[in-house]
Amino acid sequence: MHAYRASLLRFDAAGQPLFDTDGLLVVGPDAQGRQRVQDAGAHAEVAARHPGVAVTHWPGRILAPGFVDMHIHFPQTDIIGAPADGLLPWLENYTFPAESRFADPAHSAEVAEVFFDELLRNGVTTSLTFATSHPQSVQAFFEAAERRQLRMITGKVLQDRHSPDGVRDRTEQSLVDTEALIRRWHNQGRLGYAITPRFAPTSTDAQLRGAGELAAKYPDTWVHSHVAENKDEVKWARELFPQARSYLDVYAGFGLMRERAVYAHCIHFDDDDRRLMRDTGTASAVSPTSNLFLGSGFFDFEGADRIGYRYGLASDVGGGTSFSPFATMLAAYYVGREGQTKPGVSIAPSQLWWRHTGGAARALGLDGVIGNLQPGCEADFLVIDPKATPLLARKTGLANNLEELLFSLIVLGDDRLIERTVISQTG
Ligand code: GUN
Ligand code: ZN
Repeated sequence: MHAYRASLLRFDAAGQPLFDTDGLLVVGPDAQGRQRVQDAGAHAEVAARHPGVAVTHWPGRILAPGFVDMHIHFPQTDIIGAPADGLLPWLENYTFPAESRFADPAHSAEVAEVFFDELLRNGVTTSLTFATSHPQSVQAFFEAAERRQLRMITGKVLQDRHSPDGVRDRTEQSLVDTEALIRRWHNQGRLGYAITPRFAPTSTDAQLRGAGELAAKYPDTWVHSHVAENKDEVKWARELFPQARSYLDVYAGFGLMRERAVYAHCIHFDDDDRRLMRDTGTASAVSPTSNLFLGSGFFDFEGADRIGYRYGLASDVGGGTSFSPFATMLAAYYVGREGQTKPGVSIAPSQLWWRHTGGAARALGLDGVIGNLQPGCEADFLVIDPKATPLLARKTGLANNLEELLFSLIVLGDDRLIERTVISQTG
């Protein structure tokens, strides 16, 4: 066992923040040797329960849960900031050419390392991740994640039509490859598999049906796709699947909505779509920097909360513009405020933070496993230096309460705030 003394940020079961200015986090191995939180809270109380435990003291620092990125594309690391008139030209001109290079296992392995370095520098300890249609890209990702003992989720992209040579896969083989990768990697240590149809327009009915069958056969895998991001995309999906009530309903029809199914964007929704999300236990990955960069639209936070379905925050790199959760939380605040196309809301800083940690974990079906620092959680945590820059030092020193402190970090913060990212190890 080992204990860490600093300020401590956690969340209660309702997602409300718990903050100890002088806190103590006690970490130790479970029966399998995995490092987990054993105790957490005010130093005076927790220290008394653990006499003799060695303590590392980080004065002036904040211990916080590792961030959870609910939707990101590791093969798009090199195309952040690629200009385009919108989603569909961006895919054609930048994304598909970049992804075609992942047929090469050496390129896949090299980018996977860059990707994990970047996530960890930014304090992201788990991501639900798109690979490419090449099984080699999944293999490279999982091998690198396993070496680093990270809790990571990915899957081979399914796209058997309306895709250029180099990324288009073949229906039958794509499903065989998916099942083989599930058997090889799902629940191997902390790794998880996501069945990953790119989006309905690039899959045939047969591929979507096969994906749905695998989702039923392996119910604790994830399902990961995109929906209702961009108006041209929505129009295209409606033309391709005229029998469905809505674009989202296409996925329901193929058995691709359930707990642990996660859809990026979910912007151009009506209340029937929101109810379908809620009633099936499906979650949204809200990707505000991407939506602003590609001009896709504004996620309706009021609608999501009014109907009551699960969602969390995501970078969507490379449509998204930053690996930093601080950039994503700030953009989510801006998108929430937008009140011309939907009700404008002010999301509390602690709620932005929860949607990128404990709330994202809950949306992924990993509540109590990651995204928090309550007893039992895996010990993936951050050491944050709230005085990492001169302006932050001045501003955080003026904070009167927790919400003001968190807002200063969200508005002014970036990777310089993350002094250390600690990953739960075994043995
Ligand atoms: N829809 C289908 N593929 C993609 C992608 O790679 N990025 C985004 N943002 N949307 C998509
Ligand atoms: Zn995406």
